[in-house]
Amino acid sequence: MAWQTHFILNNQKIITSESPGTLVLDYLRRRERLVGTKEGCKEGDCGACMVLVGELVDNQIEYMPMTSCLMPVGELHGKHLVTVEGLNQEHLTPVQQAIVDEGGTQCGFCTPGIVVSMTAYLMKSGATVNDEGIKYALGGNLCRCTGYASLIRAGKILVDTFGDGANAGQKQEERLADLISRKAIPEYFHSIPTRLKKIPKLDSVNSKKTPDYFIAGGTDIYVQKGELLPDSRVEVLNLHPEMKGITVKNGKVHLGALTTFEEFADHPEILKFIPNMKAYMHLNASWQIRNRATLGGNIVNASPIGDMTILLLALDSTLTLKEGRNRRTVPLKSFYKGYKVLDKTPKEIVTEITFPLPGPETKIHFEKVSKRRTLDIASVNSAIKVQAEDGLIKDVHLTMGGVAPVPLFLEQTSEYLQGNILNKETIMGALPIAMAEVSPISDVRGSAEYKRLLVRQFMIGHVTKLFPEYLKVRDFYETH
Ligand SMILES: Cc1cc2nc3c(=O)[nH]c(=O)nc-3n(C[C@H](O)[C@H](O)[C@H](O)COP(=O)(O)OP(=O)(O)OC[C@H]3O[C@@H](n4cnc5c(N)ncnc54)[C@H](O)[C@@H]3O)c2cc1C
Ligand code: FES
Ligand code: FES
Repeated sequence: MAWQTHFILNNQKIITSESPGTLVLDYLRRRERLVGTKEGCKEGDCGACMVLVGELVDNQIEYMPMTSCLMPVGELHGKHLVTVEGLNQEHLTPVQQAIVDEGGTQCGFCTPGIVVSMTAYLMKSGATVNDEGIKYALGGNLCRCTGYASLIRAGKILVDTFGDGANAGQKQEERLADLISRKAIPEYFHSIPTRLKKIPKLDSVNSKKTPDYFIAGGTDIYVQKGELLPDSRVEVLNLHPEMKGITVKNGKVHLGALTTFEEFADHPEILKFIPNMKAYMHLNASWQIRNRATLGGNIVNASPIGDMTILLLALDSTLTLKEGRNRRTVPLKSFYKGYKVLDKTPKEIVTEITFPLPGPETKIHFEKVSKRRTLDIASVNSAIKVQAEDGLIKDVHLTMGGVAPVPLFLEQTSEYLQGNILNKETIMGALPIAMAEVSPISDVRGSAEYKRLLVRQFMIGHVTKLFPEYLKVRDFYETH
């Protein structure tokens, strides 16, 4: 039997035999003729293809904005897919009206994606509708005509209308009912949870075959192999709920490999020991990409500048790999054998990432420099985990990305720092060791010399930001 995907598209039930690896964007435009979803960059950068995806989690429906140009049709099974057409009503919605009132559209190519992102933000449970939030929501949308001032003004209208404070603690169900009553989303949204529950479980409609490719969030593999995937046998990992979720037990943090960047940065347990995680995350992609990009995908794509990999390496993570019934664990520090060469067979999947729960004396810091401050991949990135007591370094894990063929744990530098006093001499003593451990090359993201300079700056940045009581930036730049 051909693969079947059952889902709800706007207000319509769909059962399709479309290849699971086909892009949702292509499916919408070519099969359904829903051309409000635009094809722009097809690489996750412009947001013209933005859709909303609703999923039942613990009986509550959660909607997220996602780029349909990096999303496989197979992943839609059991979900609600909403395009801009599915938001339309007899009148303009408050989002559409605000954009019209402020002249926020010109050629109109970006407008459907912007309407979807702004509506998604109003739908986000627990969030307060405010000016910062509107900018956050638009992070994944580009407009080349109007500029952003008129869109921000349109956002302010929404803040005045919806940001009355009452929305802050609303659960998703209350939030959606409120938005339906204010005609921001259509009435049919009420019926969706009940209709989704009637969709049969995947195993009962599809049989398993050995895949040629695994797809997680798709934010890397569709950029690299987008042309091949619709005609290949793919395994859509996001259909495995057992590979999702964050738990803490027996002194360890367990991350399902499908945990997204956004879920990681939003999780109360993570924020306990990385309080600045949300600020670090602003440097990584957009809200819409972070809703799809997974930690497992970041590790397996093996980019030497993967931001989450650099952080997870500093956290001393271990991977669980699975092939059929066989499971094994590999420390992340020994997972990379060379540029894109992994201690992993082609059929193994990473199911979980674990690391020791950082104690109260442990501090964690992340640094990233890229050509553009936000929404860009790193020239060099770095993370550090330090346990210090009374000015003495007890344990350190220092990592750097973009300075070697693999995401690098600076083993010798970390060893040197361990047991030393937190002062300028210690850091100055560690710098030549770090320089000997890195081997950057010159490329489009910077010269080798510049990257070496960043290694130095990051080491100083880490310790001065984490331990201002012992070390100040000026200590390293004094002129006599
Ligand atoms: C616009 C844009 C901005 C980006 N910005 C950043 C950024 O700022 N920082 C950053 O680090 N990255 C960034 N990326 C890259 C990308 O989003 C990340 O690397 C992401 O973590 C990849 O995860 P994914 O789930 O989408 O992987 P996928 O694309 O689904 O998969 C990547 C590779 O890993 C394999 N794979 C995935 N999961 C598993 C698993 N569990 N087991 C075995 N194999 C697996 C796949 O087969 C594939 O080969 C960006 C990408 C885009 C498109
Ligand atoms: S087409 Fe540009 S983000 Fe999808
Ligand atoms: S109105 Fe033309 S790209 Fe935004």
